[in-house]
Amino acid sequence: MSKFDLIIIGGGPAGYVAAERASDGGMSVALFDMNKLGGVCLNEGCIPTKTMLYSAKLLDGAVHGAPYGVIAENARLDHQAVMKRKDKVVKILSAGLAFKMKAKNVTVIYGKAAISGKTDFGFAVTSDGQIYEARKLLIASGSQSVTPPIEGIAESLASRYAITSREALAMTAIPERLAVIGGGVIGLELACYFNAAGSKVTVVEMLDKIAGPMEDEISTILLGSLKKRGVDFRLGAKVTRAERYEGVTIERDGEPAEILPADAILAAVGRKPRSDGLELDSIGVRTERGSVVTDKYMQTGVPGVYAAGDVTGKVMLAHAASREAEAAVANMLGGSETVNYGAIPSVIYTTPEAASVGETLKSAAERGLPANETKLSMRFSGRYVAENEGGDGICKVVTDGSGRVIGTHIIGSCASEIIASAVMMIESRMPVSDLKRVVFPHPTVGEILRESLFQIREDDL
Ligand code: NAI
Repeated sequence: MSKFDLIIIGGGPAGYVAAERASDGGMSVALFDMNKLGGVCLNEGCIPTKTMLYSAKLLDGAVHGAPYGVIAENARLDHQAVMKRKDKVVKILSAGLAFKMKAKNVTVIYGKAAISGKTDFGFAVTSDGQIYEARKLLIASGSQSVTPPIEGIAESLASRYAITSREALAMTAIPERLAVIGGGVIGLELACYFNAAGSKVTVVEMLDKIAGPMEDEISTILLGSLKKRGVDFRLGAKVTRAERYEGVTIERDGEPAEILPADAILAAVGRKPRSDGLELDSIGVRTERGSVVTDKYMQTGVPGVYAAGDVTGKVMLAHAASREAEAAVANMLGGSETVNYGAIPSVIYTTPEAASVGETLKSAAERGLPANETKLSMRFSGRYVAENEGGDGICKVVTDGSGRVIGTHIIGSCASEIIASAVMMIESRMPVSDLKRVVFPHPTVGEILRESLFQIREDDL
């Protein structure tokens, strides 16, 4: 059969979640991917990096184990073993995903798909010379690494002296000195891994802070923690030139300041939507700087054609992509769902982890929202103290004038898990007075959130 209710282009966290939800909703679905199912997230992003970072975290525990009575002499990362396990983890999850698509009767087609026009049935999509038709389309073609406008970077990338996150996840040898361009999420997570694996890592970031949108104090604490673990930083420093096999030239205030020698360069300067080659013009779908433009219901200007995930250029996070896809499918089925971007968490899986959702005091002020903040040391959690010798984590909870939580920012162990409770607080819009009656298990690091609620003064609500 080559006619479907829905054709999805792209099998990442937007595409495969949409396929599952659409099938549950009674639609016949074809899912196209030119590579592997799971997209960047499963194959060269979230999952492989988290597998590698878990090994780095275990090593960190061993290296800094003495205060806990753990003596592990000569603890080190066996990079080859880490990579082997990473491949195994990806394989297990890929098999699970393929099984799920089969169980949901989704027709998975491996090949590059392009839209070829409107038909009486709906829309035509071409792949490998075959034509498929669908009543509705979902564009979920993801994103790709940006090549920075840096002199010599193209040559360096071509010779593999410079790499992007994709190649970093397949590296067989650990470079002695690694220069990381960009102190964003990818730069920091990979800096953390390569530092643990034995590289001398220097992160060069043109802003005065790392982790761009993270709350300022959280970002400062993260910087201190990573420095303590041996990562070097150059802040307010822009890489302007990459000299193959020699290093990178750094500028400050427009003046050349330093040549940083490096055995390898990691370019982690952002990602851009991947909409090229989809022939979106053939049906009149509009893009803006490569991003597919949608309304708040995830529908493009062409009725019946939706987009979700990185290709929309909104929030480039896997879980945001999945939620956008769910909203798109619900709306194809007659709903009117939107995505609450104020309740999309973001996490940096470094050691320590940093996690954030919603407004900071600063962003609320910029938007003219009345807001208050409570800040607690993570040491208010007994479990945190038990497990974090000398830990300097903090938790900040931001509330609005109506007594509801509108933001939470955490640095410390388990931050990635705790933040989900904060997301629930924001999404549910439960007043703080009601949230205070919710019981958290003791002892958990997550109790810090409950403790924070009791620090909020009645006058501030
Ligand atoms: P990013 O946009 O987070 O950070 C790039 C950084 O590079 C910025 O801070 C920028 O100021 C800096 N930069 C750019 N040009 C520079 C130059 N010439 N010299 C020095 N610094 C320069 O991009 P990143 O880290 O590549 O991540 C891409 C996307 O992937 C993001 O949207 C991120 O949210 C997503 N991602 C999310 C993860 C997570 O949720 N844990 C993990 C990995 C990626």
